This record gives sequence, C-alpha cells and structure tokens, in this order.
Amino acid sequence: MDENILQVAASWLFQHEKIAVLTGAGISQESGIPTFRGNDGVWKHYRAQDLATPEAFARNPELVWEWYLYRRQLVREKKPNPAHYALVRLKNLKQKTELITQNVDGLHRRSGFGEHTEMHGYLFRDVCTRCSWEREDYESHEKIPHCPRCGSMMRPGVVWFGESIPEKAWQHFHRLSRECELLMVIGTSQVVYPAAALSQYVRQRSAYVIEINPELTTSCQGKSIYLGYKAGFILPKLIDELEKLFKKTREVDR
Ligand code: OAD
Ligand code: ZN
Repeated sequence: MDENILQVAASWLFQHEKIAVLTGAGISQESGIPTFRGNDGVWKHYRAQDLATPEAFARNPELVWEWYLYRRQLVREKKPNPAHYALVRLKNLKQKTELITQNVDGLHRRSGFGEHTEMHGYLFRDVCTRCSWEREDYESHEKIPHCPRCGSMMRPGVVWFGESIPEKAWQHFHRLSRECELLMVIGTSQVVYPAAALSQYVRQRSAYVIEINPELTTSCQGKSIYLGYKAGFILPKLIDELEKLFKKTREVDR
C-alpha cells in the first residue's frame, strides 16, 4: 500500500472543513450485504424491473413485498463494519462533515453517525400508498402491510427506479454539490443518477475528490485521489492518519 498517498489524502481532509461523503452499497459489502452490480451483485440474479419499480408493485405487490421482507431479514442480521465506524470518527474530528448515502440498510444509523440523508429511503419504513402515512417497521412480517389509518396497502419506503428522490434529499444533494470543499465517494459504482452526478459537479468546480473503491469507476483528473481498496480496510487507516495530524498540531501548540 502506498503510505504517501494515504498521507496526502489525510492532509486534504485535515485542511478542509466542508467535507461531503457519498456512500453506496460497497461500504456495506464487508458487513455481508451484497452490492447491486458487479460479479455477485443483486441485479445479476434478479431483475430490477420485476422488484424495484412502481410498475412491478402495481403488477404484483405480494412479490415485491416478499423481496423487501427478505432484504429486511438479511440486513437485520448484519452490523456496521469498520468503514461505517471510521466515518463516525471522521465526523468527530471534522464536525462539518455531511453524509449522503444511497443505501437503505440503515447501517449508518446503527453506527451512530447521527444526522445524514438517505437519498434512496430506508428499508425499514412502510408508507401508505393512499394517504402517505408512514411508520418505521423493524419487525413485522405481514405479507402486505395495510395502513392503520385508511386501510390501504402500504409500500416499502424506498425509492424505486423511475421515481424521484425525496425533496429534502434533493436540497441536501444540491447544497453539497455547490458548497463542499472536498467530497469522499465510497463504495458506489456511480451509475445511478442523481448520485452519480455529485462527483461530476464537484470536479467541475475544481474541488477535491477522494474515491474509495476496489474498482476504478471514474477517471481521476484534477484534484483527485483514488484509493483502490475495500472501504473497511482503508478508511480506518485514513482516519488514523488524520488523527495523527490533529495530534501533531496539538503538540506544536503546546
Ligand atoms: P453498486 O452495486 O452499483 O456499486 C457498488 C460499488 O461498490 C462497486 O463499484 C464496487 O466496486 C464497490 N465495492 C464493492 N465492495 C467494496 C468494498 N468492500 N469497499 C468499497 N467499495 C466496494 O451500488 P450503488 O452504487 O450503491 O438503488 O448502487 C446505486 C443504487 O443502485 C442503489 O442505491 C440501488 C441500486 O439499484 C436503489 O435502491 C434505488
Ligand atoms: Zn393510509
């Protein structure tokens, strides 16, 4: 591993305040949750258009719910990994760090990161298809949950293909794309929009980008560092380096 590049990345984090982090399925891979694309990706074995679109739900709500109950069961058994916890450490050191995740697994919640945006929703949420009443639902196993208020069918509180992301998520996304000084992109193939556009906007402004992904996804021009490793391996090391820089300045101040 190139220690130098890690130190440069840490110095970039040290020097900037407005840090944005975008995460994707790759950050949860080491927790044992399969990613969507790639060799063993979910969309290799299942067709997204049968399971994760409004049309699929209209056609066969029972099948779609079966899929999401299966996903819930899978995720309930998993835990945040060292990459999720490294981001909590980053936030403690750099308090203006803001996080947007494409993941619906809630592992950033469970790691204790605090406030962040789930731009594709949350797996353990039910939303009424008629009156929009919603609830968090961690345990229930109903085949198709019904709204306690109006009796209509509920749907999973996630964003499906062809749907737009929630308004609040849009606003956060746009603010970060305009304002962040440094963007970290972790574990995302960057093919699903609008998430994929974030690094493009940030690069256009000539702001800094650090990408963590065992596979290269975008070209690294300009002020970019690419760390081609698994997030659970490299992120804790990166934050160790950042901590060292904080310690050094404290010693100099004394
Ligand atoms: P993808 O499955 O498309 O991409 C996962 C990325 O993580 C790939 O680029 C992998 O190389 C990388 N990766 C794998 N293991 C990793 C590890 N241990 N550490 C770091 N990176 C690793 O997932 P997303 O980009 O998140 O949409 O997919 C975007 C959206 O497409 C998802 O949010 C979901 C999906 O369909 C919705 O749910 C609406
Ligand atoms: Zn209702």
